[in-house]
Amino acid sequence: MTAFDDALADDVVVRRVDRADLLDVLRIERTCFSEPWPYSAFEMFVDEPAFLVAVRGGEVLGYVVADVMPNHGNDIGHVKDLAVRPAARGNGLGRRLLVQSLTAMAIAGAAVVKLEVRVSNDPAIGLYRSLGFDPARRVPSYYGDDEDAYIMVLDVAEWQNA
Ligand SMILES: CC(C)(COP(=O)(O)OP(=O)(O)OC[C@H]1O[C@@H](n2cnc3c(N)ncnc32)[C@H](O)[C@@H]1OP(=O)(O)O)[C@@H](O)C(=O)NCCC(=O)NCCS
Repeated sequence: MTAFDDALADDVVVRRVDRADLLDVLRIERTCFSEPWPYSAFEMFVDEPAFLVAVRGGEVLGYVVADVMPNHGNDIGHVKDLAVRPAARGNGLGRRLLVQSLTAMAIAGAAVVKLEVRVSNDPAIGLYRSLGFDPARRVPSYYGDDEDAYIMVLDVAEWQNA
């Protein structure tokens, strides 16, 4: 990709994913994670309203995958994946993706949103905390390489009223 130019950050559109975006999404996934999702996993979520991409000039710069599961009237949103291309980080795209995904989950009826994050992932934890996610518990050896995860949880009504 071309280097990210701060001045062009305003030209980035965040929109629902399209099947045609999935190869770009997969390429970013493989750059960002030691245990990347396979193509078929992204395909499963392609119709979810909270699966979004950040795009500039036809180029996918980042994505968020999330869904909402019914839970007896207390529906639970789940952020399953979030990544921004390394060259495009630090420009607010991760925040924009997550905020728009939270909005889509709120519209779909989520009362709380949860996610898992590596305990060493300071950039992601910083983003989640800044939006009001709190660590609910720590799961030992959650990841394949034995690293622990924090389960972080956001109360959607509190987030909307903040
Ligand atoms: C986490 C990630 C998506 C953030 O994307 P981004 O576009 O760089 O994030 P933003 O520019 O929107 O920054 C939002 C907030 O994240 C936090 N943050 C971002 N980069 C950070 C860093 N290097 N160190 C600490 N906090 C950081 C800050 O709280 C920041 O808010 P601020 O700019 O007001 O200080 C990106 O770092 C990434 O793709 N990481 C690899 C994949 C990954 O770990 N995904 C999360 C899996 S749980």
